[in-house]
Amino acid sequence: MDLPHKGILQSPALTQYIYGTSVYPREHEQLKKIWEATIVKYGNLAETTVPVDEGRFLSLFMEILNPKRMLEIGVFTGYSLFSTALAMPNDGLLTAIDISRDHYEVGLPYIKDAGLAHKINFIESPATPALNQLLLATTNHDEKLFDFAFVDANKTSYNNTTSC
Ligand SMILES: C[S@@+](CC[C@H](N)C(=O)[O-])C[C@H]1O[C@@H](n2cnc3c(N)ncnc32)[C@H](O)[C@@H]1O
Repeated sequence: MDLPHKGILQSPALTQYIYGTSVYPREHEQLKKIWEATIVKYGNLAETTVPVDEGRFLSLFMEILNPKRMLEIGVFTGYSLFSTALAMPNDGLLTAIDISRDHYEVGLPYIKDAGLAHKINFIESPATPALNQLLLATTNHDEKLFDFAFVDANKTSYNNTTSC
């Protein structure tokens, strides 16, 4: 007997249907441009960005949570960053950490065009020392630094349970 598929999006036809009806029509024009620029620059590596449905999910989630301070680790060219920043309040601040600014600069023009750059504090660094710096700069240690954190930094190790 065939095992059932774990997730509904494992069916290519259903994926196409859901993307076509629920995701692409709502994808921001500048977000489409980030995706296109990522493919042009990185080809197959573009698959390291979050999938478009996850971007949509992040936006919906942010609309519900309405976080003022948000942390993202693992920016790449900014697809998830854009999706999150778009749905945050105008006075929200998204601290974004990545070891490479070069990737981020591929998406940055589109983030600026969409008027989202003022919500983003990009830090070029490995995550751990950057987070240590943020903690050291905090005077009130009872204060919550972030309302929500999204970590998307090292997908290959997520599947390697011996290293988690
Ligand atoms: C899967 S990609 C992130 C995709 C991104 N969320 C998007 O939607 O396009 C992983 C990113 O994590 C970054 N990264 C890997 N190790 C890191 C670390 N220790 N600290 C911060 N960033 C890291 C990489 O440079 C890469 O840009």
